Amino acid sequence: MSKLFTTMKLKNMELKNRIVMAPMCMFCSDLNGMPNHFHDTHYTTRAVGGAGLIIMEATGVENRGRITDKDLGIWNENQAEKLSKIVEACHAFGAKMGIQLGHAGRKSEVLSEDCIAPSAIAFSERYRNPKEMTKEDIKTVITAFKDAAKRADKAGFDTIELHAAHGYLISEFLSPLPINVPMNMGGI
Ligand SMILES: Cc1cc2nc3c(=O)[nH]c(=O)nc-3n(C[C@H](O)[C@H](O)[C@H](O)COP(=O)(O)O)c2cc1C
Repeated sequence: MSKLFTTMKLKNMELKNRIVMAPMCMFCSDLNGMPNHFHDTHYTTRAVGGAGLIIMEATGVENRGRITDKDLGIWNENQAEKLSKIVEACHAFGAKMGIQLGHAGRKSEVLSEDCIAPSAIAFSERYRNPKEMTKEDIKTVITAFKDAAKRADKAGFDTIELHAAHGYLISEFLSPLPINVPMNMGGI
């Protein structure tokens, strides 16, 4: 029998099968980063379809850390409360739920906020010039990640993934290289 449909343990999380839905930005949130009927339906139908683990799309730990102003956020309790309903619905169909916590850094396209980065260097001509982060800014962002993780845990998520790729904030600290994600992936 294929291993795909066998259970699997990741530390103390047991998946009913090995089908994992990767985090994928849906760009369907409102300007406040709140989930809506689209997200309820989108994630719950994947759980009904039988995925063992669903990792929710890149979700901003700060408004200025969202990739676009149509991405989900988890920087306040209202967002977390709404996300917890989606988690509950997916759990009802046997899926485990993950959330990808992210900060887009200099690749944020949330125009209502300044974007921040380790250095004041734009990602490319298509992007704005970021503000160079101070030590205080770094502490603020670390706290935002910590608070978001606590909210995610309280909302019932079984696992958390940190987005440290695609040229976003953590990756900006880890690599001096401009990581260019092919534009046919929307640079996400
Ligand atoms: C529409 C779309 C949105 C995506 N959004 C994210 C995202 O939010 N976070 C992330 O890490 N990767 C994102 N990706 C990349 C996917 O998670 C995944 O890594 C990529 O599609 C390759 O998967 P595969 O190796 O299974 O083909 C996105 C991809 C697509 C097509």
